[in-house]
Amino acid sequence: MRIARHVQKLEEYVPGEQPKSKNVVKLNTNENPYPPSPTCAEVLKRFDLDKLRRYCDPDYTELRVALAKLNKTTAERIFVGNGSDEILSIAAKCFVENDEKIGSLDPSYSLYKTLAAIRDVEWVGAEVGVDNRRPTTDKRVSLFLLTNPNAPTGEFREPETIASFAAKFKGIVIVDEAYADFARANCMALATAEGNRNLIVMRTFSKSYSLAGLRVGYCVGPADLIRAMYKVKDSYNVDAIAQAVALAAVKDQKWMKANAKKVIATRKSFTAELEKRGWDVIPSESNFVFAKPPQRGRDTPVASEQKTPAASRIFAALRAKNIFVRYFKYPNTRERLRITIGTPEQMAKILKVLDAIRLD
Ligand SMILES: Cc1ncc(COP(=O)(O)O)c(C=O)c1O
Repeated sequence: MRIARHVQKLEEYVPGEQPKSKNVVKLNTNENPYPPSPTCAEVLKRFDLDKLRRYCDPDYTELRVALAKLNKTTAERIFVGNGSDEILSIAAKCFVENDEKIGSLDPSYSLYKTLAAIRDVEWVGAEVGVDNRRPTTDKRVSLFLLTNPNAPTGEFREPETIASFAAKFKGIVIVDEAYADFARANCMALATAEGNRNLIVMRTFSKSYSLAGLRVGYCVGPADLIRAMYKVKDSYNVDAIAQAVALAAVKDQKWMKANAKKVIATRKSFTAELEKRGWDVIPSESNFVFAKPPQRGRDTPVASEQKTPAASRIFAALRAKNIFVRYFKYPNTRERLRITIGTPEQMAKILKVLDAIRLD
């Protein structure tokens, strides 16, 4: 047995912890605190088991048509994946030659770097809007994964900024809009525009639709790029249950939007509460905040490289109280915590615990 060299040295992506206990206040993987549409439960209750005996529709036609209608486009512009993570991995196979590179914002969704490593190509980080020249002049960057709103920061880039970046960029831009339903605008109109040749917008059912466990994501883009992705996918990449439940969720936009609205309201009040306590919160358009704890006396969070940042110690203290948030140890993220927005009750609980934590 021989493991490929690039896999031997691969630093694998570690997803946020999924605790077994129900007693955990789980604010670490940006799930929705509210349940999915009741129509999803109805579909599951009525699901005909004979549909599992047979293979499912490889083209998930009904779901595709519903997604096309929702986004005012045609089904040939829609691709559906086993979560948007699968779409990313298919894109890395479709749009990158062995001697090309994958780009993304930095910091951003850390899976992108791992995807480049799995594909055995180089990863390049850049600041779109500030540093547009890097990926646009580096001719070897053939795929740019642009998260908007970004994760873990929550920052939002205006669609005009993204449009002008894509217009200059020679390769393909995937605007990862996993969190778009919590933002004030999105890039879908750019993806469905007639003249669009290189921009794909990607969405997921994992966040605003409260269906992370279902594993469904989709993307919208130029028909030739979508066709290429179909060539590469596994035949039955979206199973029969996932197709049926996602279809029910798409048809209940009212439910999804009402939940997103609640999350946005809680995000605003939680941000204000953190700021009152001296935290620095990056303005977020997502279902999470990326926040830096206040400096306490001489105990500055970044007093020295050797010192464990306050964010890391607060992460551990919260965890000891069964409150899970996310901490990324990289140099440009280590001073902050990413906290998913839960219910108002969950956010009141984390604030109460934060108020009781002593770091010295
Ligand atoms: C920016 C971003 N893209 C994609 C995903 C993955 O979504 P999915 O559950 O659809 O694979 C996540 C999950 O946290 C994410 O943060």
